[in-house]
Amino acid sequence: QCTRAPLVGGTSLIQEMNSDDPRIQQKAILETEQRLLYTEEVPEEDGCRTTLNKTTINQLIIIFGFFSLILEITLLSEAFLASMELDAKERARRRRENRVLADALKDKGNKAFARGDYNAAVLCYSEGLNKVKDMKVLYTNRAQAYLKLGDYQKAIVDCEWALKCDEKCTKAYFHMGKAHLALKNYNMSRECYQKILEISPKLQTQVKDSLNQVNLQEKADLQEKEAQRLLDSGKHAAVTVKNLLETLCKPDQNPLFYAGGIEILTEMMKDCTEQTLFRTHNGFSIISENEVVRRCFSTTGKDVVGETVCVSVLRLWQAVCSGNEENQRLLLLCPNLGRLLPSLLATRLLTVRQQSFALLLQLTQTDYGRSLVISHLDLTRLLEALVSFLDFSDKEANSAMALLTDLALDERFRVWFQANLPGVLPVLTGVLERDPMVTSPSALCRCIALMGNLSAEAAVRRQMFASEEFREACLGLMARCEEDMDFFREVMYTLLGLVMNLCLQSPFVYEVWAVEVSRKCMFLLNSQDGGILTRAAGVLSRTLSSSRKMVEEALRAGVVKKMIKFLKTGGQTASRYAIKTLAVCTNSHYEAREEVIRLDKKFGILMKLLSSEDEMVVGNAALCLGNCMEVPYAASSLLKTDVVQVLLKHAGGDAQETAVQLNAGIALGKLCTAEPRFAAQLRELHGIEILNSTMKYVADP
Ligand SMILES: *[C@@H]1O[C@H](CO)[C@@H](O)[C@H](O)[C@H]1NC(C)=O
Ligand SMILES: *[C@@H]1O[C@H](CO)[C@@H](O)[C@H](O)[C@H]1NC(C)=O
Ligand SMILES: *[C@@H]1O[C@H](CO)[C@@H](O)[C@H](O)[C@H]1NC(C)=O
Ligand SMILES: *[C@@H]1O[C@H](CO)[C@@H](O)[C@H](O)[C@H]1NC(C)=O
Repeated sequence: QCTRAPLVGGTSLIQEMNSDDPRIQQKAILETEQRLLYTEEVPEEDGCRTTLNKTTINQLIIIFGFFSLILEITLLSEAFLASMELDAKERARRRRENRVLADALKDKGNKAFARGDYNAAVLCYSEGLNKVKDMKVLYTNRAQAYLKLGDYQKAIVDCEWALKCDEKCTKAYFHMGKAHLALKNYNMSRECYQKILEISPKLQTQVKDSLNQVNLQEKADLQEKEAQRLLDSGKHAAVTVKNLLETLCKPDQNPLFYAGGIEILTEMMKDCTEQTLFRTHNGFSIISENEVVRRCFSTTGKDVVGETVCVSVLRLWQAVCSGNEENQRLLLLCPNLGRLLPSLLATRLLTVRQQSFALLLQLTQTDYGRSLVISHLDLTRLLEALVSFLDFSDKEANSAMALLTDLALDERFRVWFQANLPGVLPVLTGVLERDPMVTSPSALCRCIALMGNLSAEAAVRRQMFASEEFREACLGLMARCEEDMDFFREVMYTLLGLVMNLCLQSPFVYEVWAVEVSRKCMFLLNSQDGGILTRAAGVLSRTLSSSRKMVEEALRAGVVKKMIKFLKTGGQTASRYAIKTLAVCTNSHYEAREEVIRLDKKFGILMKLLSSEDEMVVGNAALCLGNCMEVPYAASSLLKTDVVQVLLKHAGGDAQETAVQLNAGIALGKLCTAEPRFAAQLRELHGIEILNSTMKYVADP
């Protein structure tokens, strides 16, 4: 009795709509995490110590010293030698003590650094270096503190010392690269980053980002020089920009005064020179720190004047940021923008919403802009704001979902998403709970498809699945779509993809939910739509095994007949799900086996599946066939076939997956038990040994 036969196609084998290799994804996330840790602001807890074991070296020197002493002055008294030894021991002890002290000072320095007291941190690290001269981590950490203090030369010197301790210290090169960048030594900075690449090619992503930053800064620097030259030479537009900004510095004017000035300024932003002068003459802070302008932002929608000011500022920002990375960076660094932009996006005021959306769209067009948006905006609020676009017109809703998808496919977003899912999940649940009647169906589909895409990550899937609200929202939306399948066909289709992913979570713990979902899918098996049929079968193949009761219900509703029909006429994906479903049903229910035998004459269909290229299909077909062998006389209908060879081939190691080998072995075993003539065939094929070892393997828990 081999009931332990594994079903094939659990978490490891299929993800129809998510074909990404999970290992590759995992690797990407790991790499991202590594980068995050790497640029982490708090210095490292403990660097790699200098590799030489000082204790050992000291001891060697001492011992060697003894020998030469003994050789040279053989007359030395025992007492003198003893005192020498004491002295050496004393020195070793002091060194150990110093090391402990230096470690403590490093920790103290790190704490000071973490609370932003960089001067105190420098003092601690310096004191530590007084105790132990060659402690690399103290140099790199002190360099990092100097960077914070803007003391770039000192940072560079410390990095050089760290490199003397360890010439492969990538951290030292990172800090040195930063210091050189701040000093505008672009070539030297690039050299530092290149060095890192030579030492550790796996840091490529971080190095690429850093090099990109150097290039952008150099570009900005050149632009600034050029803009200044044009300003000095009296170029009209340049002078006007400068004068306008000076005028706008006046505090406490009528809001329309600012709106007017900003409008003119926006018109002036014809090319890079004007954009650059806006930046170098503090345009960003003049606008964002103006009290009157700020009041307008915080009272959006209360009066027309406020709206006018908001819109003019948003248009100005678009004009100054268009194609200008440095301006984009400065804009996103404006205090409060991280919350301001999402809140402007979420407003009911059409003009403000449109202009803030246009700004966001502009920013997210490039990889650099996206990285700024992802690292500086309040992403939870942004997500909420974009989702609120589902309330508006088809066009607005679809553009918002397209932008969200664009962002969400960025690896950096995914890292954030996974870490912040508990806070974000209610927003997503809210999307599923929307009335699909009053939501743009295509935008709704985009959003659900995005959830499906994100749920390919096991950690995300787990959290979604664990939320009762989320599960119930899926079920609720399925129910509403079912009421009008003609109208909600697309929504149902996308939703089934998401549900299918969620159901990869095994073993099932939410039986009541799984039963409800299975019932809906059984109902969907009456559909005429191939896509819906396939996905419904996909969900069933994953949910049925969670409940015997549900299998019985499905059998009564004719699931076996439907699956056999899929196997005869359906495509490859549908067949995969169908055979898995049959395997589940025949595994636990005798009636299912009898029905398969009745509907698949002489096992023509199952035999064909056993030769499939797709191992998941082979494994489940073998399992299903083995189950059917328990019905009397079923085996003899296979006597004229080559079933023994076929199964032996899979069991004997042709199959890559152990589960498939096992299932084939089990099927052979059941075949031979049911019909002794198969055992004779097997002996002729010298297959006993293979089967013996496979079965033994299976028998071992
Ligand atoms: C998510 O969507 C992107 C873009 O369509 C695609 O390249 C990627 O393979 C999808 N990932 C998963 C896991 O579905
Ligand atoms: C250094 O070597 C000494 C003597 O061999 C040993 O006792 C000590 O544990 C070593 N220290 C480290 C940090 O490996
Ligand atoms: C930086 O390197 C580039 C290319 O190697 C060279 O043309 C340029 O003159 C260098 N700049 C400085 C300031 O050394
Ligand atoms: C199966 O293998 C075991 C040892 O691995 C052996 O003792 C036994 O005789 C074998 N049985 C057959 C039927 O070959």
